[in-house]
Amino acid sequence: MPSSLQRKEMLHVAAIMDGNGRWARARGLPRREGHRAGIEALRRIVKAAPDAGIGTLTVHAFSAANWKRPPEEVADLLKLFEQYLDSETEALVADGVRLSFIGRRDRLPENLVAEMTRTEAVTEWGDALTLRVALDYSAREAIVAAVKSGVTPGPDVDLLIRTSGEQRLSDFLLWECAYAELYFIEKNWPDFAATDLTAALTAFRARERRFGALAQAAE
Ligand code: FPP
Repeated sequence: MPSSLQRKEMLHVAAIMDGNGRWARARGLPRREGHRAGIEALRRIVKAAPDAGIGTLTVHAFSAANWKRPPEEVADLLKLFEQYLDSETEALVADGVRLSFIGRRDRLPENLVAEMTRTEAVTEWGDALTLRVALDYSAREAIVAAVKSGVTPGPDVDLLIRTSGEQRLSDFLLWECAYAELYFIEKNWPDFAATDLTAALTAFRARERRFGALAQAAE
């Protein structure tokens, strides 16, 4: 039986992939190499996600606040995203991954936006995993836009993972995380492995989610 038929849960997991720069610095490498290693970590997690019971994975790749970084780093990141899309589409289609983007597109380079639109179209039929990548994204902006349009921002997040020991939301999925379980891990994102994802999900499943109601034992 294909694993997609055995899956019971279809969790929405979100990840703040933090610590690429520190990973690189610890190895005496340029920050760009940290982001490159971060892409490898993302590949591993995307591969592991469907069998881990994840239906939607939303990752924070570039926030609206990240424009404040040095122009060379911004350029490196934008180039890496484009390369990822160029080289990854075939594998995403083969793995049944549907890729979509959240965030603004009007400030991104035309080539990148064209590549984003192309990848969204090509992967549209993927049904093993929806991978949502936040690019030039601000949750506050998304909430304001949603209020104006009358459409709620997006699906509720079940579990939010943040790497590198930081414990904050940084304007990521503020609305969608209203009842999310939060999971923080000291490891930097490039070191985040499939086993770390499994550990995060095990911790998540051990928590009691009450959504404001009483605990089961108290009913
Ligand atoms: C945070 O680490 C990471 C980023 C700002 C970029 C995230 C991007 C990737 C992991 C690349 C993969 C993404 C896609 C969609 C191809 P940091 O630079 O803030 O690290 P630091 O806090 O240690 O300096």
